[in-house]
Amino acid sequence: MPTSDSLFARATNVIPGGVNSPVRAFGGVGGTPRFIKRGEGCRLTDVDGRTYIDFCLSWGPLILGHAHPRVLAAIERAAKDGTSFGAPTEAEVLLAEKVCALVQPVEQVRFVSSGTEATMSAIRLARGFTGRDLIIKFAGCYHGHADFLLVQAGSGLATFGTPSSAGVPAGIGRSTLVAHYNDLASVAAHFDRFPNQIACVIAESVPANNGLILPERNFLRDLTDLAHRHGALMISDEVITGFRLGFGGAAARFGFTPDLMTFGKIIGGGLPVGAFGGRRDIMQHLAPLGKVYQAGTLSGNPVAMAAGLAALEVIEAENAYERLEQMGARFGATLRQQVDLESLGVALTRIGSIFWLYLASSQAPIDPAALDTASAARYRYLFHFALDHGIYLAPSAYEVGFLSLAHDDDALNRAAGILAEGLKTMPPLGATAP
Ligand SMILES: Cc1ncc(COP(=O)(O)O)c(C=O)c1O
Repeated sequence: MPTSDSLFARATNVIPGGVNSPVRAFGGVGGTPRFIKRGEGCRLTDVDGRTYIDFCLSWGPLILGHAHPRVLAAIERAAKDGTSFGAPTEAEVLLAEKVCALVQPVEQVRFVSSGTEATMSAIRLARGFTGRDLIIKFAGCYHGHADFLLVQAGSGLATFGTPSSAGVPAGIGRSTLVAHYNDLASVAAHFDRFPNQIACVIAESVPANNGLILPERNFLRDLTDLAHRHGALMISDEVITGFRLGFGGAAARFGFTPDLMTFGKIIGGGLPVGAFGGRRDIMQHLAPLGKVYQAGTLSGNPVAMAAGLAALEVIEAENAYERLEQMGARFGATLRQQVDLESLGVALTRIGSIFWLYLASSQAPIDPAALDTASAARYRYLFHFALDHGIYLAPSAYEVGFLSLAHDDDALNRAAGILAEGLKTMPPLGATAP
């Protein structure tokens, strides 16, 4: 039995579903998850010795690729001094200074250990600051697994959201209003219906958890203005886009100024770090200065701070964003040269080093809640075709692909060739899995 298969069998006995985060289980694509032994640059090697060019990159954090020597050296140096103190260290100050210098709307920042903690804490802060309870999120956007954010869709514009997970009390969904991305009127309707009650709007400013959806012209700026006109805060969830689309994330890219921003993934250099930050007058409402409580035993962990700082320094030194943009453009062009996406009913959406193949239509969607699920069988085929040929995509049709600085031309050309072949041979729309 391949070692991945036997490890998965053992894992399912002691870990629910065999995994510590559900989408790793290959539930959306079938088959057994690959257990990974090591990663280097843009490549992963599994426990059976098979090697893959990796486009999942730990779901986004590894913008420098796996095991970057400068990040590893920083981790080793920091760990030798001790792994956690529960008292402040210089590393926290250095990373906070770097974030505040690089990200224009962030005057103060607090570190946590995951993106979920970052969004959950930013919303508590927005509620504490405004003295209001309701929040607006967008259908199909993911902000981590805090109860009040596990709310996907309401039935109708002004309907309260219903929880999309068992275990979330129905009452919790009542504080979360659900609007539609790229549809300002759906947000305005909530503000009209609940005057002076809405604390904030939280947006995955470029939604990348239910496909990759781009904002229509001025949507994010108009959304921020609308929130401000109603005395609410704008929270830009940049857990994926922060430090990936550029130092200023989606906010700088699309020219709007959020009050708070949330980070994760890249900011920790591959270790567990999240952060939220923004206007000083808002951040000062956090304990110990203010009345909004927020804390964490391992928050600002010195080893994780060192990894994050090293990653940001390499990004700065290597002119990363310009290079990633060029790589992304070349990768897309190479793929398009080899396969006529339009005639196959496929759309390729890309922004910088994030890409997504929508297999249900040649028209890219503008609402993350409006994806056609008819392409699931196509994605299952494409995913396994790619995996069998040494390309590791995210095991879900609705998750995006990432490039890293470690993806060289050889790797990108090889991957484009295999994906083109997979696209040409995949089943027609609506077919059941082969
Ligand atoms: C936009 C966004 N926000 C929040 C989160 C939650 O982050 P974490 O998984 O680190 O808790 C994610 C995770 O993928 C995310 O993509």
